[in-house]
Amino acid sequence: MNFGEVMVKILKPLLIIFFCLVPFYQVLAENKEENVSIVEIRQQAMQAMWQRLDRLSTLIARPGDIVASSDGTSIVIGNKETQTADTYALIQGREAIQDATEVAELLKQVKDFWPANTSTAHIKHTSAETLVWLIPDAFKRYYMDAVIASDNLKQSLASEHNETIRRSVCMVSLSCGKCHSAFRKVRYDNLRKEGRGWTGSYENCWMYKNEIILDSTSIRR
Ligand code: HEC
Repeated sequence: MNFGEVMVKILKPLLIIFFCLVPFYQVLAENKEENVSIVEIRQQAMQAMWQRLDRLSTLIARPGDIVASSDGTSIVIGNKETQTADTYALIQGREAIQDATEVAELLKQVKDFWPANTSTAHIKHTSAETLVWLIPDAFKRYYMDAVIASDNLKQSLASEHNETIRRSVCMVSLSCGKCHSAFRKVRYDNLRKEGRGWTGSYENCWMYKNEIILDSTSIRR
């Protein structure tokens, strides 16, 4: 055997291994890209929900509270109650029912955007706690709480009954907050981006928070 033949003998299996591995790594890389966008989509959907809920929180403002309007100015709520749909439209330039419907839709759209390979072990910039995958049934239950609460809010808005609307807005925000407190990491750098440090808790919702502590199923009513 001359030197050339020896080299071929050594290189051939190496080359075969190499060309088998390339497509394998490509598949891994593509999966990774796909998972990165799954995380980004769910984060963007969450941000979009927050923007809507932030507007909807106008409906629970009490006299003296300060709310931000659609053009960025702050409005102090006067003695006249502001939770009616008409005032909402005036302040926010949008119908409350549209915001509520979109929150419900967004929740449903990213319901299945939580595959196991999108945890922090795989994707660095996710803020989802590993608990999402350790106790998936609890995560799903909290998720359904939010879906049902947002559907209930749509119905309450149609009823035009102020106290019912107020309660429903609180139940939605509490359902977001309940899940976050267990399943979402709040890192320091998260707080810089608007909404990232959002806890889902509003002062004006304290009585409904008590209601949930006493009976966790009341969040779905
Ligand atoms: C069942 C659990 C659950 C519910 C319900 C839920 N969230 Fe989240 N939310 C999460 C998790 C987990 C993350 C972290 C996602 C990630 O980083 O991959 C998150 C992230 C967020 C973020 C930060 C997104 C970003 O840019 O990093 C916002 C804002 C947010 N949620 C708002 C809401 C609002 C508003 C609601 C209610 C309408 C809501 N969430 C309902 C679990 C939930």
